[in-house]
Amino acid sequence: MNIYLDNAATTPLDKEVLDSMIPYMTENFGNPSSIHAHGRKVRSAIEDARKIVATHLNASAGEIFFTSSATEANNMALKGSVDDLGVTRIISSEMEHHCVLHTLEYLEDHKGVKIEYLKLDKEGNIDLNQLEKLLEDKSETTLVTLMHANNEIGTMIDFAKVSELCKAHKAYFHSDTVQTVGKFAIDVQANPVCFLSGSAHKFYGPKGVGFIYINGDNKVKPRLFGGGQERNMRAGTENAYGIVGLGKALDLAYQNLEERKAHIISLRERFKKGLNGALEDVEFLGNQEDHCNYAVLNVSLPKTVKSEMIAFNLDIAGVSASTGSACSSGAVHDSHVLAAIDSDPNRKSVRFSFSHHNTEAQIDKTIQALAKIMN
Ligand SMILES: Cc1ncc(COP(=O)(O)O)c(C=O)c1O
Repeated sequence: MNIYLDNAATTPLDKEVLDSMIPYMTENFGNPSSIHAHGRKVRSAIEDARKIVATHLNASAGEIFFTSSATEANNMALKGSVDDLGVTRIISSEMEHHCVLHTLEYLEDHKGVKIEYLKLDKEGNIDLNQLEKLLEDKSETTLVTLMHANNEIGTMIDFAKVSELCKAHKAYFHSDTVQTVGKFAIDVQANPVCFLSGSAHKFYGPKGVGFIYINGDNKVKPRLFGGGQERNMRAGTENAYGIVGLGKALDLAYQNLEERKAHIISLRERFKKGLNGALEDVEFLGNQEDHCNYAVLNVSLPKTVKSEMIAFNLDIAGVSASTGSACSSGAVHDSHVLAAIDSDPNRKSVRFSFSHHNTEAQIDKTIQALAKIMN
């Protein structure tokens, strides 16, 4: 069996999560909008899942809306803030996920929104002083959109600080929390934010289901019209078993957070130490200290004939890891994140992302495989 170290791309569906979903694919098949017993049963499961998400974020259930993906959630937040909240300026960074960056390009081209990108240092840290300076200019209604943790290099923003700055300067704050939901505590009361997004398949839930948190004070309008689902915010019959799975997966992620985290951190440290010993020239990209997603390690190697084909060679050696970002056609592009942090073009990087299912033996085998490829 190949070793899977690409958990930031997607995670395997947890067996307990699957078990929670199956009844909603079989006997509990009612339409949640139907008022009879079959419908009510499914409605009640969806509302339970909503309460689970709300509880873990310290939000209220009325602030959680289920979507098809985090891509949809991020689009909703950004387009809604421009169309419905009067946002004319958006502050962001060039290392956001494409579902944010391409939406920003659209808003700039089609709605005349002014987009300002914060400077990033070599580790992908934003400049909080620059953010504060930009926020001092109150001539435009402003939204700040910054991802909680970058998916390629793991660098995180200081969420509390960004939230505080946005609040102090009356700017809206959206954060793509796809890589941190279920891995870090998120408390929307302690650290106010207007919009957050999550995606079940990143925390051992099913694909095709996500959510958006919309702070109750921000009245954005629906983008899909039809039935009155999701309290009129998103028309279309709900992905009931997906939503049930999302709720179960999130509950398991938060119940087991400390245990999973400790295991993953120890694997990551073992991997770093092993690579430092096995390879002559290895670097780790992204913040490795206080603002680091413990589940991601971006390994940078000198560019050689061997490292150019690193993901391919690892695949042959039985290890699934990631270079660049795979787009829907499967083509691999040079990474916009590495370009945004001005990484050394003479080096090649490969991202490893871990889960609680990974073992020390898998880490050791991967170190050996890398050493064999490179040396
Ligand atoms: C940081 C980040 N944002 C957004 C997305 C998109 O999530 P989804 O697959 O639910 O559309 C991803 C998925 O790779 C991601 O890593």
